[in-house]
Amino acid sequence: MEESLGCSPAPTLTQFLSDCQARVERQLNLHLKNCSSSQALAQAMAYGTLNGGKRLRPVLAYASALAVGGQLQSADPAACAIELIHCYSLVHDDLPAMDDDDLRRGKPTVHKAFDEATAILVGDALQSLAFQILSHPGPGDDCKTLVQTRLDMIAALSQAAGAAGMVGGQALDFEAVGRDLDLDELKTLHRMKTGALVRASVIMGAMAGRHVDTDNDLFSVQNAALSDYAQKIGLAFQVQDDILDEIGDTSTLGKPQGSDRSQHKPTYVSLLGLDQAIDHAQELAKQAISSLEQAVFPGDTEILRLLARYIVDRSH
Ligand code: IPE
Ligand code: IPE
Ligand code: MG
Ligand code: MG
Ligand code: MG
Repeated sequence: MEESLGCSPAPTLTQFLSDCQARVERQLNLHLKNCSSSQALAQAMAYGTLNGGKRLRPVLAYASALAVGGQLQSADPAACAIELIHCYSLVHDDLPAMDDDDLRRGKPTVHKAFDEATAILVGDALQSLAFQILSHPGPGDDCKTLVQTRLDMIAALSQAAGAAGMVGGQALDFEAVGRDLDLDELKTLHRMKTGALVRASVIMGAMAGRHVDTDNDLFSVQNAALSDYAQKIGLAFQVQDDILDEIGDTSTLGKPQGSDRSQHKPTYVSLLGLDQAIDHAQELAKQAISSLEQAVFPGDTEILRLLARYIVDRSH
């Protein structure tokens, strides 16, 4: 078993994480300002979003944009849209009818700080805002290429967020309570509930970074490599989440440790045992890094490689 908990990320990654976190935080602040005439709803949306998440999905989108030779700025709308979908999924995930958790990102969950009806509406509104952002060009955007890119992003994000992706995975998660799933069933569940949005982050980052309407063989090979990479880290991300639910602590996690066990959720830890789950997460990270070798990228893929390690070495 490899030692995996509590390692600090490499210095280049630490800098990249904090730059991207600050970047997406600024954008989210702007998008959430005056977003509703209901002060209560706007306040609860900000509470559920601007609350110290790791912003890993935006970071992946930015890293992927750089790997295909693009600029960070090009991935801003994708980064915000993905994070908003993720925040909505967390607000709903914590509801009494779902995981019934009281703590998120170190603070009371939205339904605790406000009320259940508000938390449901916050999720609904964050989801709409995500697609609103993708459908609006920014100043100076070249419309013809942008429209196609944005349509592609909307297709990718709606697919990843909906019944074939995150929401479908949440349904499988809910149906699995108290049942014994086999490994293939659990893999499908994890790939949908968490992996789909992680994959969309990488794919949308590449779309944003290229920002051209021509397709070619080189892009297809790069896309296949990125998709492979993203599927591996997407699964690894949820395996590590399961591990942390078992061996993390509530104050570091910012969410209740032991939530899965107390609700009899099948997880990689309950199925494989802790040591094998840790080995599996590490193996997936290695495979993800190897996937990037399948293609030649015009930009730097180092951050993507470091992120694969970070996902399975993180302590929260
Ligand atoms: C937690 O996601 C929920 C899962 C999909 C496993 P994160 O661990 O990315 O949570 P935040 O955004 O940093 O709070
Ligand atoms: C949540 O999975 C996945 C989502 C789609 C939000 P979990 O229920 O394991 O996430 P945490 O542990 O509450 O963050
Ligand atoms: Mg859940
Ligand atoms: Mg949960
Ligand atoms: Mg969890």
